[in-house]
Amino acid sequence: MISFDFSKCSLKDSEMEALSKEVAKARATLKKERESGAVGFWALPFDEDLLIRCRNVAKDIRYRFQNLIVLGIGGSSVGLRALSRALWPSDNRLRLLIQESPDPQSVEKILKAIDLNRTCINVISKSGATIETTTLLDHFLTALKDKVGEKWRDHVVVTTEQNKGKLFGLVEKEKLIHFEIPENVDGRFSVFSAVGLFPLTCIGVNTQKLLKGAARAVDNHDNACRNGTIHYLLNKNHGKTISVMMTYGDALKEFGGWYAQLWAESLGKEGKGQTPLACQGPQDQHSLAQLFLDGPKDKVVTFIKVAPQRGDKLGELMERECNATAQACFESGCPSVTITLPSLDEETLGELLMTHQIQTAFTGHLMGINPYDQPAVERIKKFI
Ligand code: PA5
Repeated sequence: MISFDFSKCSLKDSEMEALSKEVAKARATLKKERESGAVGFWALPFDEDLLIRCRNVAKDIRYRFQNLIVLGIGGSSVGLRALSRALWPSDNRLRLLIQESPDPQSVEKILKAIDLNRTCINVISKSGATIETTTLLDHFLTALKDKVGEKWRDHVVVTTEQNKGKLFGLVEKEKLIHFEIPENVDGRFSVFSAVGLFPLTCIGVNTQKLLKGAARAVDNHDNACRNGTIHYLLNKNHGKTISVMMTYGDALKEFGGWYAQLWAESLGKEGKGQTPLACQGPQDQHSLAQLFLDGPKDKVVTFIKVAPQRGDKLGELMERECNATAQACFESGCPSVTITLPSLDEETLGELLMTHQIQTAFTGHLMGINPYDQPAVERIKKFI
């Protein structure tokens, strides 16, 4: 199980206790949205049928192809980035390429590097209408049709909401393989749906264990709520307007970006919200940490470290680096919470990501905003 150390959060028990009514109310909202099924991310770790279907389709993909190109953006890509980086199986032979932006140079580079005869495209979009993703799909489909002709349909897997959007229209018209994103699961809360699960199964990640860890976080989310309360109070009463996510371990490199999207897009509303900043230890001890310690006192840091194996000198040094930075921050008036991962396996990562989704939803309820919508993001989409 992941463990939390709140001893350097610099909040008095009395301040936490004074918020107990609001905390109880926010927890009751979480319970209601979970039990009523109104908010779908809670149920994803328990979807056995999806697990089996992902396995069946992935088996065929792994057998037929060398490359899997995922086209998607925002909530439809960053969770996969984080988990594929952290859990990449050493014996995996399927190359995974994730393309978010319609940058012509990157797209051309991919098309030059791969053999489309041996390539599967998994296009992922909840709305089925996001311009970057649908344009990328058109581009890749043109190239694919040129190369494999009528057989192009066997190379495409579509992950999108049912009965809605351009992509679902394509599924129906061309009878493509389709994974559904449930209507009540929002983009940045969708990593445990087929959005993450299918491509992760394709590269050989043990998704059953991943969901087991996520389910553990659903069953016990006291620490998620406590951490949300701490972040809320530090922001509201102590001017901590920046939430730094500092991870120790190269496998966690993409986790910070996933957290940044979740925290910013869920909570940045109605003039409220904390700006997330992802960074890495120990590298950023030699750059950004100067600012954390001696710059404006506007930050709360979450440190994430991996418990070292006994006798693992490098792992022990990583842990000392993390502890030292937390201590130096504390002494400089920069509060922090430290999360320790027992190891870098599927269960632990499942628990870590689900804990942060719950923390985010809970904090949104404490703030009195809707953590699940993204009206400003939709505004930009309309201008394109
Ligand atoms: O979290 C969100 O809702 C967004 O980041 C979306 O995931 C992003 O805008 C992409 O949307 P879609 O999955 O509809 O293509």
